[in-house]
Parts: sequence; C-alpha cells; structure tokens
Amino acid sequence: MESSASGLTAQRLTTQGTTGNDGAAQDRAGDDSEFEVFDDAVAGDARDPYPELAAARKATPVQRLDMSNMPHDEAKPVFFVYRYDDVLTVLRDGETYSSGQIIELIMGDVMGRHIMLGMDDPDHRRYRALVSTAFGQKAIARWESQLVEPIASSLIDGFAGRGHAELVREFTFPYPTQVIAGMLGLPREDFKQFQRWSIAILSVFTKREAAIEASREVTAYLAPILADRRAQPRDDLISDLAQAELGGERLSDEEIFCFLRLLLPAGVETTYRSTGNLLFSLLSRPDQLAAIRADRSLIPQAIEETVRYETPLLNITRIATRDTELGGVAIPEGSTIMTMLAAANRDESRWDDPDHYDILRGVRPSVGWGQGPHICLGMHLARVEMRTALNLLLDRLPNLRLDPDGDDPHIKGQVFRSPTSLPVLFG
Ligand code: HEM
Repeated sequence: MESSASGLTAQRLTTQGTTGNDGAAQDRAGDDSEFEVFDDAVAGDARDPYPELAAARKATPVQRLDMSNMPHDEAKPVFFVYRYDDVLTVLRDGETYSSGQIIELIMGDVMGRHIMLGMDDPDHRRYRALVSTAFGQKAIARWESQLVEPIASSLIDGFAGRGHAELVREFTFPYPTQVIAGMLGLPREDFKQFQRWSIAILSVFTKREAAIEASREVTAYLAPILADRRAQPRDDLISDLAQAELGGERLSDEEIFCFLRLLLPAGVETTYRSTGNLLFSLLSRPDQLAAIRADRSLIPQAIEETVRYETPLLNITRIATRDTELGGVAIPEGSTIMTMLAAANRDESRWDDPDHYDILRGVRPSVGWGQGPHICLGMHLARVEMRTALNLLLDRLPNLRLDPDGDDPHIKGQVFRSPTSLPVLFG
C-alpha cells in the first residue's frame, strides 16, 4: 500500500479540494486521445481502488508517509486518513486542520486570494454567510424550473430523435457548465465562450499560463456585468452576490470575481462526474433502475447512495495547525492530512455491506459532500441537477439502456471518478 499511496500523493495534492481537471472538457475541445491522456493524468486510471482502500482502512487507518517532494514544506509528513469517524473529526475541526495554505499555493494566481475553499475562520465564516443565501434551498427551487429543466431538455433535444447517444459528451459535461452560465445571467450566445474559459481554468494543472490568462479574461468579461448589476439588479446570481449584505457589509468586486471563478471547478467537475456515476450505476443495474421507473420518489436516495458509493472526488486535504493526535497517531504541526472520502464512505462500521450499491438502503449521510465548515455549498443545486437529469432522461428516452456494443464503459479514477463514456440506446 505504501508505495502506491506515495505514488499518488503528488497527484492527489495538486488536484485537492474541488479543483478540476479537464478530462471531458478536453474531449469536447480536442480528440479522444487527448481526452484519455488528460483524464488519466489527473483522474488516474484505476478501475477499482476500493480493495486497496479497504485494506489500508483496516491495517493503517491513519497512515504516515514521509515525503521529500511536497510542495509546501519538504520536511513535513503526510497522513492518509481512511476511517469515517477520523475523516469527520478532521473535516469538522477547521481550527486544528486548516484549509488555508495548499489551495493558496496551487490556485492563488488563477482563482485569486478570496477562494472560500482555501479560507479559515473568521474570514471563511463571514464570506460563506454572504454567499450562502444564493445557494439555499429556496433560491435553488427558482433555478430548477427557470434554468435547470430547460437546459437539460435542450441538451436532450440534441439526440432524442436519434435512438442512441453518448451521454458523457452530449449530456453530463455540458449540462452543469450551462447551468452555471445561466445562473450568472450570461446571454446564451456567450455560453460557448464561457465554456472555453471554463475548460482553460479547469486545465490549471496542465496549462497554468493559459489558465491564468483565462482567469483574467473572465474577470474582464464579468466586470461590466457586475457594475451593471450593482446599479440595476436582475434575477441572477451576480445580482444576488452584489446585493448580499451582512451587518452592513457587502462583498467587494474582487471577492465576487473569486467566487465566480471557483464555481467552475467546484460546480462543474463534481457535478458532471456525479451525474455520470448516477446514470452508469443505474443503467448497469437494471433491477434498481426498474425500481426507480416504478417509483420516482426513490431518486433522492439513489443520488445519496451514488455520492456515497461512487464518491466523485476521492479525497480532500488539510494542514495541521498544531501538534495533535488522530486515531492514536501523533500528528506534528504542519503535516498534510489527506482525508480519503472514498474509503470513509465504504467504512463497514457505518454501513452494512458497504461495497454493495443499494438505493434502498436507509440513507445515512456520507462524506461525499464533505463535512463541517466547508461542506459543499452547492449540494442543493447538485441534487436538483442530478434529479432533473434522471427524470427527464427517463421521461424522454423510452427503454433507455446501455448499448451492449458500447466500448466497455466503466467508472474509473483514483482522484476523481466517473464513467469514461455512456453509450446508450433508447426507443
Ligand atoms: C455532486 C456534486 C458535488 C459534490 C460531490 C461536491 C463535493 C464537495 C466537497 C467534498 C466539498 C468540500 C471541500 C472541502 O472541504 O475542502 C465541496 C465544497 C464546495 N462546493 Fe461542492 N460538490 C458538488 C457540487 C457543487 C456545485 C454544483 C457547486 C456550485 C455551483 C458546488 C460548490 C461548492 C463550493 C463553493 C464549495 C466550497 C465551500 C466552502 O469552502 O465553504 N459544489 N463540494
């Protein structure tokens, strides 16, 4: 375990948080070989990392590695944390386990200095309070009918008459990008340009200069829109952010730009992968898909089971701010802590038969959405997107099924996980 874990570490660190890769993005921009290279480079090629994670959870629940090539401090050790309870302890205690340094180091010059994912209290609490009303359940209900459903429908229009489709390229990837562009109130004719910037920013780990340039261009593009919304608010997210107020305080322009830039990796990467995981998990288990066809009210629990069983983002990182102890293991100040969400979500002390995908199991919250102060801000939106996608695909594509002649579609990845492709037939 030790050697393979250390082999993955640098990659895990550079892709930590909800930061993105450009796998399917590149697929849409370039040819298939490019897609394979990028997706393997960032997400990894593992088809089933779970036996290895389970062995580590049992043998070394808090596993120390002494590394010499860490970006933040060569002398500091790295710890991998595999058990559910220990992961929860880390994520809930933002004082001992800081979100600060790593994201700032890696993404600061692309995203800007006010990325909430990389903030600690009190800055994080203030910032989160200001942006969170725009992402509450009430606000999201409005987007569902105005935006999410029309976007999902228009994407399905593109292939509904054809009897077959490849749902990763034609549906799951463009879907959350367009939802975010729509929430920002961007005109439809600018969606393509927005998608190009999105791809460039998601490519930060492979093409850093281009990502920084795209980040500048997005800011220049959004600046007059923000000025306009400050003067004349409309029914969109930029207006909500411009007006958000807490104790007489408002978000500055730069704080708003940082938030908008973060939405690309945070809101696109995870959601397109999770939507693919949901579709693949059900399409490859016809009995569970039949249960959903018979009773659509099972969809919310299918979404939670998918985020548990096929966690799209396998780990997130923190830095210990002081000497501490976790699961009986001493952690020196400055250590990097990798919380292995995927391992925690298959912990047998929390779920019976955890390696079994079962939409009928009682839902117990997983750490797929994170936990504690940084718990996913967009989870209500992501749930709406996934539910809408599944409902509309089942409504509009009769007898939807995996194409038996498809090229061995499967879920893969050891940093992010999602299906390589989803070739389907219908009608
Ligand atoms: C199934 C889809 C999603 C999953 C599994 C997911 C997962 C996560 C996780 C694990 C975190 C915690 C990161 C940490 O603690 O370091 C997080 C944070 C975050 N997510 Fe999501 N996410 C999803 C969709 C979205 C969407 C659609 C949006 C917005 C459009 C979004 C916006 C955010 C933001 C802004 C944060 C940072 C919150 C903070 O720092 O306080 N996410 N997400």
